[in-house]
Amino acid sequence: MAILFENGIFRLDAGETSYAMMIGEDRTLLHLYYGARLADSDLGYLLYLLPTASFSALRAELVRPGHSPDTLLQEFSCNGTGDFRASACQIRDADGHSATDLRYVSHRILPGKYALPGLPATYAEDERDAATLEITLEDPHTGLRAVLLYGVFEHLGAVTRAVRLENPSSRTVTVERVFSACLDLPRCDLDLVSLWGHWSCERNVARRPIDRGSQGVSSKRGASGHAENPFIALCSRNADETSGDVYAASFVYSGNFEASAEVDSYGMTRLLLGLETTDFAWTLEPGESFTAPEAVLVYSAEGFGGMSRTFHRLFRQHLVRGAWKTKRRPILVNNWEATYFDFDEEKLAAIARDAADLGIEMLVMDDGWFGARNDDTSSLGDWTVNEEKLRGGLAPLVRRVNEMGLKFGIWFEPEMISPVSRLCETHPEWVLGIPGRGKSIARSQYVLDMSRADVRDYLFDAMAAILSSANIEYVKWDFNRNLTEAGSLLLPPERGKEIFHRYVLGLYELLERLHTAFPELLLEGCSGGGGRFDPGMLYYTPQIWTSDNTDACERLFIQHGTSLVYPPSSISAHVSATPNHRTGRETPFVTRGVVAMGGAFGYELDLTKLTDEERALVREQVAFYRKYCGVVQNGDYYRLISPFEDRNLAAWSSVSEDRRTVIVSVVAYRFRYPRAEFLRLCGLDPEAVYVDRGSGARYRGSTLMRAGLNLTREFRDGESVRIVLEAEA
Ligand code: GLA
Repeated sequence: MAILFENGIFRLDAGETSYAMMIGEDRTLLHLYYGARLADSDLGYLLYLLPTASFSALRAELVRPGHSPDTLLQEFSCNGTGDFRASACQIRDADGHSATDLRYVSHRILPGKYALPGLPATYAEDERDAATLEITLEDPHTGLRAVLLYGVFEHLGAVTRAVRLENPSSRTVTVERVFSACLDLPRCDLDLVSLWGHWSCERNVARRPIDRGSQGVSSKRGASGHAENPFIALCSRNADETSGDVYAASFVYSGNFEASAEVDSYGMTRLLLGLETTDFAWTLEPGESFTAPEAVLVYSAEGFGGMSRTFHRLFRQHLVRGAWKTKRRPILVNNWEATYFDFDEEKLAAIARDAADLGIEMLVMDDGWFGARNDDTSSLGDWTVNEEKLRGGLAPLVRRVNEMGLKFGIWFEPEMISPVSRLCETHPEWVLGIPGRGKSIARSQYVLDMSRADVRDYLFDAMAAILSSANIEYVKWDFNRNLTEAGSLLLPPERGKEIFHRYVLGLYELLERLHTAFPELLLEGCSGGGGRFDPGMLYYTPQIWTSDNTDACERLFIQHGTSLVYPPSSISAHVSATPNHRTGRETPFVTRGVVAMGGAFGYELDLTKLTDEERALVREQVAFYRKYCGVVQNGDYYRLISPFEDRNLAAWSSVSEDRRTVIVSVVAYRFRYPRAEFLRLCGLDPEAVYVDRGSGARYRGSTLMRAGLNLTREFRDGESVRIVLEAEA
């Protein structure tokens, strides 16, 4: 049983981890433990009672030392009733007060994993893989309820959390803050790790010691954003790739978020993750409820490597859905960096012809095929084919490409509208904005009000018409600016702060409609590269364009950071031209392939301009990826050398599920003079004998893990080494 309840104590066992809480004497829900798996259920002794704490108030019904809400580990902390730390929940009642006091009422333990209406969430196809705990808390004063939802994945070290707030009372209240995860840890000797970035430089790893007070990351962009990822980890000071405690939290959501760690005066740390608070409020009429998105908690005693592999498995098996969940993704060529806006059907057909010849499997037509779009200043919203570029429309082009043996994919940016567009002339009221206030412009575009059903209907019909007009098997869903002056003409003033969340709910609804209507379609998420790379999007789009920076050396950093949370199968990566359009750097073709094959592989260059030597390399890369894609897509991922830590090298490996095939990749992002380098591998079968398919050398698994591969050599700038090891039968 993954969920135990005995003597008022809950113990949730997920993989090698346990999570425990108890119903306190005054029926508040208290946190007891989160960490490595425990065998005992009698965990009441873990209750953290601080003998004295002046100025920490006691509840009238429990006047005993240590029992102040201010000093106890809370499971879902409330506001204004004695816990002075940042609260997980704040509700303004009909009389204008924002004190909340939630007490245990009941609970249910259910087989399978809960789902969340209108929101992405992890799932279990087989009921036996997960269990659900629902704990109902109630505020005796207002009658408001919080239903805490816990999903426990029995074979993975992951516990999910979400919360539903219900208003069974006869008066209207306002939810002012609600965090999906609240985790009180009885320690503060921790570092905080987050992923920061900007356009073309996403998901750098930041690590700093936590200190007294509050620290954290957030987004107010209307999207998860380039700047911070909806992920936070607290780890022991000595934690590294292979050892140390890591308590990580990831938010299954694509909009504004807030993640913080608050260290109080008594050495306890509160981790909060959920909806961003400044730009959020939600009105709950009598009888209404509000469900906050899901947060995933992962504890690893094996450092960041263990954490990542749990996230990867969970997201691969229990978050990504649909026809492409486990199927080998097509190797594609995207025309963006080949042509930008300057293309017609002949140019595309020429690229497709070469692609087919080289074994590439899909042509993706990027931005510029619709309306009158020849640059980024017009036509978003006018989703009709530009027949000046594509004579005869889409169908003949797609047929032609299909006849060459290639699939066809297309680019959309559904949520956007250009001021210069037919749509903007016809429906100016569909633009997100505040009446009387100017609208900020970014990349010459505005954002559509996705909270409106009429906008979503229009977009669905427009996209469905295009997708039904030809055999289109893939969509790249882009989103190239963030939200400003966020207002909807349809929302009454008291609901003004609901717009950011309603926007995301609208986005999810449209994605779900598309997923249902076109179940075979492969969706790739994108936002100026990786500006909306989050688990919420992964529920709809199995892969996401990782960055507009396609420079292989830069990608070492970007893909390393991304891999902290996201599986390689989701990390879209392409070989592009050299010198790189973004950075001007020249990198060998082989290395560009090695790096791009660390994720969902493809090309993004003009294939018609390749030399014979490069064409031969493409053929080799395609053959290699076809053969080993399963190892990359479904295997375990090990970061072996971090480019953030090493001054020259990055290295990683993919190990097949059965541990029989190992692909080791090493790239020098800058020249390195010969130096001792023994690369210790991870995750192998210690007893097996592995053969290096290139050199024929044989090694025992335990030797490779303890002594390592001998890579003592010179590395030229941008040079790479890839070693495939296969276990002997
Ligand atoms: C964004 C994407 C690119 C490309 C352009 C098209 O920047 O990240 O890959 O699709 O838009 O305008």
